[in-house]
Amino acid sequence: MAMFDIEIYGSECLRRKCRTVEELDPDLEDFIDRMVETMIVGSGVGLAASQVGVCKRVAVMNPEPDREKTLIRMINPKIVALSNEEDTIEEGCLSVPGIRGRIIRPSALEVVYIDRKGRERRLEAEGLLARIIQHEVDHLNGILFIDHLSIAKRALLRRKLKDLESGRG
Ligand code: NI
Repeated sequence: MAMFDIEIYGSECLRRKCRTVEELDPDLEDFIDRMVETMIVGSGVGLAASQVGVCKRVAVMNPEPDREKTLIRMINPKIVALSNEEDTIEEGCLSVPGIRGRIIRPSALEVVYIDRKGRERRLEAEGLLARIIQHEVDHLNGILFIDHLSIAKRALLRRKLKDLESGRG
């Protein structure tokens, strides 16, 4: 199966708001399979369609990459509830290689989405999975994890980000 190239920081499609998927068809299933493959080969725990240059609300994730059972494919995910409680977790992103940052986000959430069979699903998540879901839904809205860093921290990363943007990263 052909993998996708991953869009890197500076690529315009990472900043677009992705479109809602209106229809499930075999092409979409193939697309999602290729996303899963790309995530696995990239050793990621999540991947959004915008990261492979496709502006659709689709994301795949697996908080335990060694297990197949924990793989989740989400179409049109929508976070419907967030906990007041927050935690700090270090995040990275296949589209922002070489950079990691500790980000504060709600520690638990509830998400609704369509699975690849077209069924509507509702999922409560906490810990790493809740974190991945928020990171991926951000991607679908054109938001990157570095946007959540403090201005001071971002200033420290400015050179690295510039290098990524110009393809020298
Ligand atoms: Ni990411």
